[in-house]
Amino acid sequence: MLVDLHVHLRGTLVRETVLFLAERNAVSIPEAILADARYGWHDFATFLKAYDLVTSVVKSAADLEVITTSYLKRCAELGGGYVEFMLSPPDLARTGVPFPDQLKALTAAADRAAEEWGVRSRLIATAVRHLGPRAAVEAARMATSIQSDMLVGFGLTGDEHQHEVGEFAEAFNIARGEGLRATAHAGEHRPADTIIEAIELLGLDRVGHGIRAVESPDVMRQLAEARMPLEVCLGSNLALGLYRSVAEHPVGRMVDAGCAIVLGTDDPGFFGTDLAREHALALEADPRLGIEAVSTNAIAAAFCDEHTKNSLAH
Ligand code: HPA
Ligand code: ZN
Repeated sequence: MLVDLHVHLRGTLVRETVLFLAERNAVSIPEAILADARYGWHDFATFLKAYDLVTSVVKSAADLEVITTSYLKRCAELGGGYVEFMLSPPDLARTGVPFPDQLKALTAAADRAAEEWGVRSRLIATAVRHLGPRAAVEAARMATSIQSDMLVGFGLTGDEHQHEVGEFAEAFNIARGEGLRATAHAGEHRPADTIIEAIELLGLDRVGHGIRAVESPDVMRQLAEARMPLEVCLGSNLALGLYRSVAEHPVGRMVDAGCAIVLGTDDPGFFGTDLAREHALALEADPRLGIEAVSTNAIAAAFCDEHTKNSLAH
């Protein structure tokens, strides 16, 4: 059974759905962007811009239900059994869909996917780093304003180069204070020591990416000792040009150091990847990253309750 622990819900949008929602919601995206297979991006900074533009076609709770259902169905077809989505509550709240309505739509999609295709899912509410710490507190307040079995975590996405991670401690304190588990993008674009900083200042249970840990034996040792799960997204790293080939990817060296590796598709609709491909890439990178070993790590690292974990393991 395959598990996706790092996927941005709106990043699952495939071209066909982008076109469908653009038409339905009367959102116009420049022809030149749509004509390009990569929507015009060529590195992380331009990716984030293209991502904001293209994902602006998602407007309503019904749209959220469509994209969630669509991704879970694709996962099930590939042997997926569990997915944790990231979504920032204020994004759609700003355009008129209150968070409880977003959550209702996601829960409806999740319930249907569990029932019809046997794939389970949960939500990680996120703050967007480049929108700053005040917006992050707003995201945390929104996330914790409602009680739901669907919502299990709080995360930090966006541009790692903006702000210092400690500025987000208040938001994470609010979220963790209400029982949400914590993850944050760290050590994808900035050096190894920022991973430890993020873990300590935000109280993380997992790290998004964390691949630059490989640059510091000391950081890798600390991550290994803590059995801190690292959400590695090989297809994303290759698409964004962080490494030229699987052979150059550091995940094997992280396994050597004893790090706990789990996998994610990140933005599969943009990076041309899926859960099956991520597992194939991981196995190609290191034979110790077989489905069984990675799934065991993933279930242990999942933010859902123990009862759900037990049912995933059997
Ligand atoms: N990285 C960081 N933030 C993001 C991404 C990503 O791949 N997708 C959406 N927000
Ligand atoms: Zn990500």
